[in-house]
Amino acid sequence: MINKLKIITYGTFDLLHIGHINLLKRSKTLGHYLMVGLSTDEFNLLKHKSSILSFEDRKTILEAIKYVDFVFQENSWNQKIDDIKKYNADIFVMGDDWQGEFDYLKTECPVKYLPRTSKISTTLYKNKLKNAK
Ligand code: CTP
Repeated sequence: MINKLKIITYGTFDLLHIGHINLLKRSKTLGHYLMVGLSTDEFNLLKHKSSILSFEDRKTILEAIKYVDFVFQENSWNQKIDDIKKYNADIFVMGDDWQGEFDYLKTECPVKYLPRTSKISTTLYKNKLKNAK
């Protein structure tokens, strides 16, 4: 029996958009089981971000996506090495706006940066909604 390749990625995934879906879809094609570390509302505040949707709602939405197999809490910057070990991740994936930032994880597993979808982000989405008032 072939071992299932486990992929791990992280993010806030607020106001889900096509860039998020493309990233999740491409991540899943690298393996068989996709795990997402979802920033908690408290961690977002530490990052000076505030999401429109609560952690629970963002988690429910992510769990409904067919590419996503498991969602867990991201509470801090420095939990990734422990998560990779705890969840037996085989590949760490992020969008290429993070290029190089997580290379230190290469001691644990391969690190891949996938092309970011152009012209869309949660920030852009929020600004468009603000301007549509
Ligand atoms: N992502 C992507 N393409 C986009 C937007 C995001 O591939 N257009 C990826 C990011 O690189 C990251 C994941 O989706 O790997 C989660 O990103 P997140 O920060 O939650 O979304 P953003 O839209 O970038 O949010 P913000 O504008 O608040 O930074």
